[in-house]
Amino acid sequence: DSILFSGLDKKVNVWMSHGDQVQDLPDDFNLLALTLTAPIAAMQHKTLPIYAIQFHPEVTHTNNGQKILDNFIFNVCNASADWKMDDLISQRVEEIKEQVQTNKVLLGLSGGVDSSVTAALLHKALGKKLTCVFVDNGLLRKGESEQVIKTFKENMSLNVIKSDSQHVFIRHLKNIKDPEQKRKVIGRTFIDVFDAEAIKLKDIRFLAQGTIYPDVIESSGSESNEARVIKSHHNVGGLPKEMKLALVEPLRDLFKDEVRRMGLELGIPKEMIERHPFPGPGLGVRIIGEVTKEKIKILQEADNIFIEELIKADLYDKVSQAFAVLLPVKSVGVVGDERRYAEVIGLRAVETVDFMTARWAHLPYEFLEHVSNRIVNEIEHVSRVVYDISSKPPATIEWE
Ligand code: XMP
Repeated sequence: DSILFSGLDKKVNVWMSHGDQVQDLPDDFNLLALTLTAPIAAMQHKTLPIYAIQFHPEVTHTNNGQKILDNFIFNVCNASADWKMDDLISQRVEEIKEQVQTNKVLLGLSGGVDSSVTAALLHKALGKKLTCVFVDNGLLRKGESEQVIKTFKENMSLNVIKSDSQHVFIRHLKNIKDPEQKRKVIGRTFIDVFDAEAIKLKDIRFLAQGTIYPDVIESSGSESNEARVIKSHHNVGGLPKEMKLALVEPLRDLFKDEVRRMGLELGIPKEMIERHPFPGPGLGVRIIGEVTKEKIKILQEADNIFIEELIKADLYDKVSQAFAVLLPVKSVGVVGDERRYAEVIGLRAVETVDFMTARWAHLPYEFLEHVSNRIVNEIEHVSRVVYDISSKPPATIEWE
């Protein structure tokens, strides 16, 4: 009956993925909640407005977690809900102007939601002082390079330069199998490419990036530095210590759903905002083990079939992210009378709001069967398709 839980049922499903627990109540605290295995899941100070919980109210998999946060913010802290997205946009525009002054800015534009929203925001703040560089690193989805250039030059009238850097990335990735090392190499190569483009453009002092808060948390780059490294997102943990350009990262403290809301507010088309996210290191972290040109081609084809079928079956918007992964094993298959010893493709589809936790998508069996048949029949280098049924945590969304 604490105000923290007002409006909630006596029994609530919450998300807990810890290996540790609080055993004894401190002095002056009352027990508020427990689970079958955790004797103290929530507690409250007897006289002061101090509450503590062991579970995650902020993730979508905690039923009514938002209500718990609302109770705390509005009923315990007595805050008022006067924050608006357009206030945030004007505040960020002012901050960007203040940071950049009269200098020119280079933005690494990937065509994904985060960098597109960063581009629109910077365009609003800086106009012609912004130049976007789209790096074709050879690790993109099928047809992506052409699509991004078309969308941004035509729809958004941005100043976009394309850098054809496939060879440099493939060369740097040669013989590298470890996922963290791969991410770091890709991050460094991006910076080398941006530095080179900045020199060509002259007078560029700032590099803008679409870094968002989950990238910072998972790379352990938050201000407290207490979070553990889960994976080095190419734009945070992958950056070299000595950088020639100063960073502009106006979305660094926002979550994905907030970034999407900001994008819509800034007038970015809905189809772009609702595109599934694509990681900066691209197919580099979806090819397990060493990345080669041949493997990229196979994965692009398989991924394209999966996405094409999701759109056709009206399932694309029902999942939050879907993609194919090329596994580092070969498997025996039979095609006609022939033995085929070939690659294995993993399919991954998840449902999530904030990408911090995710549930594997329960796609219909008939649909999966159809996608699997198409992949094995149309790509001769593939003999088998598997579907990933792991949620986050304990798995992550990407495989590397
Ligand atoms: P994980 O795999 O950590 O992914 O559960 C959470 C979300 O982040 C995306 N992701 C990245 N995005 N740079 C990015 O811009 C990265 O290095 C990176 N790694 C993962 C992933 O696709 C998912 O949407």
